[in-house]
Formats: sequence, structure tokens, C-alpha cells
Amino acid sequence: MAKLKNSFVCQNCGAVHSQWNGRCNACDEWNTIVEEVTSQAPPGVPKSVHKGKVLGLETLRQASDEAPRVPTRIAELDRVTGGGLVPGSALLIGGEPGIGKSTLLLQVAAAIASGGGSALYFSGEEAAAQVRLRAARLGLGDAPVGLACETNLANILSTLGKNKNANLVVIDSIQTIWSDSLESAPGTVAQVRAATQALIRHAKASSTALLLVGHVTKDGQIAGPKVVEHMVDTVLYFEGDRGQPFRILRAVKNRFGATDEIGVFEMAEQGLQEVANPSELFLGERGTDSPGAVVFAGVEGTRPILVEIQALVTRSTLGTPRRAVVGWDNSRLSMVLAVLQARCGLNLAGHDVYLNIAGGLKIAEPAADLAAAAALASSHLSVAVPLDTVVFGEISLSGGVRAVSHANMRLKEAQKLGFKSAILPASGDVEQKRGLIALKRLDRLQQLVEHFAREA
Ligand code: TYD
Ligand code: MG
Repeated sequence: MAKLKNSFVCQNCGAVHSQWNGRCNACDEWNTIVEEVTSQAPPGVPKSVHKGKVLGLETLRQASDEAPRVPTRIAELDRVTGGGLVPGSALLIGGEPGIGKSTLLLQVAAAIASGGGSALYFSGEEAAAQVRLRAARLGLGDAPVGLACETNLANILSTLGKNKNANLVVIDSIQTIWSDSLESAPGTVAQVRAATQALIRHAKASSTALLLVGHVTKDGQIAGPKVVEHMVDTVLYFEGDRGQPFRILRAVKNRFGATDEIGVFEMAEQGLQEVANPSELFLGERGTDSPGAVVFAGVEGTRPILVEIQALVTRSTLGTPRRAVVGWDNSRLSMVLAVLQARCGLNLAGHDVYLNIAGGLKIAEPAADLAAAAALASSHLSVAVPLDTVVFGEISLSGGVRAVSHANMRLKEAQKLGFKSAILPASGDVEQKRGLIALKRLDRLQQLVEHFAREA
């Protein structure tokens, strides 16, 4: 009989301790250590040392140039994964509850099944009737998807064993799957790890593409140990503001492609609709020009995206003024405010500052610095930036405006959407054959503030 062994596992980082502690000394998190009973030796550790067989070594050369792909026929998902799902690979998709993970994966399964592939959907969270209701709502009731509502790992594995020719297997969600060979509760590190391992092993052996749904915790991490993220080939995050219809699919890890592409969807009555031209969406309805609103010409992956940055600077009634930012980095905001204050003579102390990226997009590019600074200065000085102007550029601590990549791509997109002028760094090559956009090129942030001050 297998020996029972107690171990204390941190639910945050997966570290194993010999005794219970209030705080995990591996990741410094409080109250994350849970006692788990393991009835077998840790996987991968052989019980007896036997003589291994000699492996045949292979070369790095590949028979065909490209890894074969299963296109999902959802162009935005194909873009993020780098051209479709890879047979035998595992993809983890994380996101807040209600963001649309189940909807997206049902649409993927239906698209593959309707295209002649075989797709299985295991739901551990919803009853069959609920999934069917959603399928009907999405107009996918007739898609030949194999549906099962099950949380027991052994049952799922047996079903998969009988359906070895499946092209796609969806597990919604990995936190609900449990194995009765482990005594810990579903959702614990040991269970999630064991289920992921077994499912990945099956996917590799049968060349099935495996899609796992992962829950996220309050601070936005995929719940369960980081090891799950290490085990899978691709990790995607599904983001968005639940009050807004836009959803963004972002790759944070991809063994088969780039991680800087995003996919943009709109949650509509009939499920998630692809948005092929996100700029139009993020700009939304722009009526008259108003102080504090600036259009940033950004680039996500290979795609330019124009988005409005909104700032509000008001006199504060609090001892410590408020700094609130949505969709951008807090410390980046502090830096831009400090530069505006120290290098451009704007007195922002004693003012509350709010910054918002429209449409629920999250921006990580340093190129947004200049647009954010323009929005802040515009609000503070009550001078509107003209509606038909885009802004991009990086700001250094000395108050200089630095060149950014893809300037031409940004300008071309702005031109396509009818913008007439651009504020951008003085350095960096810009080809403007037709001169359709008036370029205002800056060396220093100070020049922009002086320009606003003249208009005020
Ligand atoms: P769901 O896919 O269940 O989210 P998750 O699996 O990430 O928890 O999506 C649920 C939300 O999506 C729900 O609030 C309603 C909305 N929705 C639509 O707006 N249109 C639709 O066609 C569907 C199916 C859902
Ligand atoms: Mg769901």
C-alpha cells in the first residue's frame, strides 16, 4: 500500500514545507500554506533505481518549416497564438469571472467542430443545460461539439482515451478538476498540478490541442501555482472592463510565437465578435475637443492602435492629493508628473490627478509618455489639444523627448483615420512622402508646455 505522507504546500508559489507556518518563507505570502496528504511518491521520482534504456538522439532539423497549426477560424485568436493552435500543445487562458472565457472557448470549439474537426468540451462549472443555453444564444446549437459536464479527472481521461482523434479538448476550468488518488480538495495546488500534468501528457501523446481555463485571483494572477503556467506552452489573459463591451486577449507566454500581439473582441448579444480595426473602436464617439483628452498613436505587436488618453487635474482638498490611474502604470504616471513639475515648471502639487485610458485598454508602451504628459498639461492649463491630432513619444527624466519605434506605422494609421497633425519626437526617421499629416516635432517636453501656455 502506498505510504501516506503529509506535506504543507504554499497555494501561492507551490513551495513545500515540512511544517505549517503563517507565512510562506519562499514567497512571503501570509496564510497560503495548506496541509496536503499525498498517497504516493512525488511524480517523477522512481521508487527503485532501474537501469534506463538508451535513448536515440535526434537532430534539430525539422522535416517541415512550420509547426503544423489548427486554425481556429477566429482571426483575433489566431493572431494572438501566432497562427492557430498547435496540435499536442497546451494553452491556458486566464481571466476574471464573467469576462467571457467560456463564451470564447465554446465559440472556438464550435468553429473547429463545424469545420470538420473533432472538438470536446468538458465543463466543470456549468450544467449541460447551461452550456446548451449559451450555445443556442450564440447560434451554435447545431455545431457537432462533444459536451460533457465532469470534474473527475479519471473519467475525463478515460473519455479522452476513447476519443483519441479529437483535435481540440477544452477544460473549463482546471481548478474544478480533481483526482481521487489525491486527498486534497479540488482547486488546491496538488490537484491542479496533477490534473494539468495528466491532461498535458494525454495531449502530447494524442496530438490534441488542449485549452485550459484558469481562474484568476483578486490581484490578477492565474490562481494556483505558477507551475501551471510553467507547464503549459501558451498562457493568454483575457482582459477587459466588465462595464465595457471590449475584451482584449493578450499572450503572456507563447512557445510557438510572439507575445506582443493582442486580439480585440467586442462582447455583443451573439457572443464575442472580432474587432478587426480596434482604433475605430477605442476612439469611440469623439464630439468636440476638450482639455485633457489626447489621442495616443500606439502599437500592439504588429498592429497600430489609436486610443484616447483622458486626464483630469483639479485642485485638491486633501492633505495628500489623489493620484488615480486606470489602464496605465502608476509609477509611470508619477514619473511624468515629476518631469512636468521639475522640468516644465507646472505646479501640480496640491492637485488631484486622474488618468484614464479609454475603452478599457491597458497600455504598457513607454511611447505613451508624451501623450499622457500632453493630456495632463492640457487639463491643467485648460487648453484643448485639437481633435485631429495624435501624440506619441517617450519622455526621459531630464525632460527630453525620445524617439520610439514604428513611428511610420503610427502616422500611417493616424492618416488612415483622418487625423491631420501629429506631435512626435524630433529624433527618429519619419518618411512622409505625401505630407498629409502636419508634423510637430519636439526635442523637449518644455516646448509642448510652452505651446499650451501660448494658446491659453
Ligand atoms: P462567460 O463566458 O460565462 O464568462 P467566464 O467564463 O469568463 O466567467 O461570460 C459571461 C458574460 O458574458 C455574461 O455576463 C454575459 C455575457 N454574454 C454576452 O454579453 N453575450 C453573449 O452572447 C454571452 C454568451 C454572454
Ligand atoms: Mg466560465
